[in-house]
Amino acid sequence: MALSPAHSDLSLGFNSHSMLSASIDCFPIRTGSSFLDTPGSVPLQLLEQRSDISSVNSEEEELGSVKEEFSFLGHPVCLKRHRDGHFFPSSNPSKRIAVEPRLESRRAAVRAWGNQTISVADPEIFNIMEKEKQRQLKGIELVASENFVCKAVMEALGSHLTNKYSEGMPGSRNYTGNEYIDQIEFLCLKRALAAFDLDPEKWSVNVQPYSCTSANFAVYTGLLLPGDRIMGLETPSGGHLSHGYYTPSGKNISAASIFFNSLSYKVNPQTGYIDYDRLEEKALDYRPKILICGGSSYPREWDYARFRSIADRCGAVLMCDMAHISGLVAAKECASPFDYCDIVTSTTHKSLRGPRGGIIFYRKGSKLKKQCSHPSQADGSTHYDFEEKINFAVFPSTQGGPHNNHIAALAIALKQVATLEYKAYIQQVKKNAQALASALLRRNCRLVTGGTDNHLLLWDVMTFKITGRYYEKVCEMCHITINKTAIYGVNGAISREGVRIGTPAMTSRGCVESDFEMIAEFLLRAAQITLDVQREHAKQQKNLVKALQQNKDIVELRNCVEMFSSQFALPGLDSCW
Ligand SMILES: Cc1ncc(COP(=O)(O)O)c(C=O)c1O
Repeated sequence: MALSPAHSDLSLGFNSHSMLSASIDCFPIRTGSSFLDTPGSVPLQLLEQRSDISSVNSEEEELGSVKEEFSFLGHPVCLKRHRDGHFFPSSNPSKRIAVEPRLESRRAAVRAWGNQTISVADPEIFNIMEKEKQRQLKGIELVASENFVCKAVMEALGSHLTNKYSEGMPGSRNYTGNEYIDQIEFLCLKRALAAFDLDPEKWSVNVQPYSCTSANFAVYTGLLLPGDRIMGLETPSGGHLSHGYYTPSGKNISAASIFFNSLSYKVNPQTGYIDYDRLEEKALDYRPKILICGGSSYPREWDYARFRSIADRCGAVLMCDMAHISGLVAAKECASPFDYCDIVTSTTHKSLRGPRGGIIFYRKGSKLKKQCSHPSQADGSTHYDFEEKINFAVFPSTQGGPHNNHIAALAIALKQVATLEYKAYIQQVKKNAQALASALLRRNCRLVTGGTDNHLLLWDVMTFKITGRYYEKVCEMCHITINKTAIYGVNGAISREGVRIGTPAMTSRGCVESDFEMIAEFLLRAAQITLDVQREHAKQQKNLVKALQQNKDIVELRNCVEMFSSQFALPGLDSCW
C-alpha cells in the first residue's frame, strides 16, 4: 500500500523517537508492507536488518518469547517480547556492535548543542546580550513605550512553549497535542477580560497577534475590503503609523495606507488637544468605515463619548488603539475606551508591562441600540459579527501559529495587572509623570498641552534653541534614552524639535517623584550641554559623534546618570550592577 508523504513523515518521527529507536535497533520488528521503505528515512536501517531477523526469530521463539502483531497506521507490525513482558534483546552480538556505535554517535551529534547555555552555544551573541544588559542597568530609560518585564514573564518567554505549533483557536487547532497549550490560551483569554473588567457576555478577545501593528491590520482585514476608508490621528498630532500614514508627497508608508484609504484628523496646533469639531466635520465628509482613537504620543485624556457620537453619525465602527495607556485603563487610572468603543486593540508590552505583542478585544452579543438604527449599518443585524471576522483575520489571513511562549507570558502579566500592587504601580507612573512635568515647567520648559494626564509628556526643546535630533543624541551619550518626535511648535507649524518622555520603565525600577525631580535635572543639564555642543560643532556634523565622545560635560553627566541608575535594580535580573 502506498503512503502519502505525510505518512512517510510520520514514520520518520516515530522511529527517531529515542525509546523506539532503541527498540528498533536491538529488537526484531517486522512490517507486513512497504511502509518503511520510504527513501531517505531513518527506517531504511530496518530493511538492512530484515535478512537477519528471520534467523533470529526461530532461535528466540525457543527461548520463550511471544510474538505480538498489531497494526500501526493501518500496517501490520510484528513485535517480539519475552513472556515476562520485556522486549527481546538481539541475540546477534556482532550485529549490535556493528550498528549501535553509529547510531549512538548520530544521536550524540544531534543532541550535542541541546542543553548548552547561550554563553557556550554562541559567545558572540552572549557578549552582545551582556552589553545590552549593562546598558539597560546603567541607563535612564525614558522612552514612553518601553518597560521592564518581571522574571516570571521572562521565564515564560524563554520556555519550551516556543516548541509547539498551535494554529487555530483554543479547542480547535490544526495540529494535535495542544491540550496544555489550549489551557494556557483559555486562561490568558479569561484573564484578559478580567484585567479590564469586561463582561464575557459582551466582550471577547484574541491574544494571538504578534504585535499591535498586526492586531490593527487584522481588524482592518477582517472588517474592510481593500480600499475602504479608515480615519485615525495623524502622526505629528500623536497618532501611529498603523492607523494609516502617507508622507506629504503622497507615499503610502504603512500597510494600513497601502491596502486601505486613510485620512487623518489632527490636534489643534495651538492647544495640542484633539480638535473634535474639525474631526467631526472631516469624518462626516469622509465617512470612514472605521474611526480610530488612541495614539502614540498624546498626553491627554481621550473624549470617547465624543468619538462614539461622531462614529455613530457617520456610521463607522469605533476602534481604540490603547497601546500606550492600556496599563492605565486596566488600573482604572484613566477613562476607559471599553465604555464606548466596538473594538479595542493594544500592545501588551508598554504600560501593561507584559511581553512584546498585541491583543484585540471586540464586542459580541447584541449591538448598542444606536448602532442598530443607523442607516449605514444596513445589514439590519442586531448582533455584532466581529468574532468570526477578527479571529479569521488573525489566523489564517495575516498570521500563522501563535507564539505560545508569549501567550503564557501575557497570561502571567495579566494576572499581575489585576492586583492592587499593579494599581499602585500605575498610580506611581502617573505621579512620576506629574513630578517630571512640574519640574520642567518650573524651569520654563514648554510642554505640549501644558502638562499631562497620563504617563508621558511632550517637550518642545526648540525653546532652548536646540534641535530634537541633537538633544536625543546628547542624551543617548549621557546614557538617557528618550525619543525625538514631531509636534506642533509654538507657532502652530509642525516642528521636529519635540521629545517624548515617559515614566513607566523607570517606575518599574522603583523610581518615585523625588527621583524624577533628579531626572529632570539630568534632562536640563543635557539640554544645556546640547546647546553648547550645537554652538561649537554647528558646522562639523560629520565629526559630531566623535566630538561628543570626548566632551567632558557629557562624560561627567554620564557618570552621574550611571551612579543614579545603579540604585535601581532591573526587574527580573535580581541585582543592581
Ligand atoms: C498606538 C500604537 N499602536 C501600535 C503600535 C505598534 O505596536 P507594535 O510595535 O507592537 O507593532 C504602537 C507602538 O509604538 C503604538 O504606540
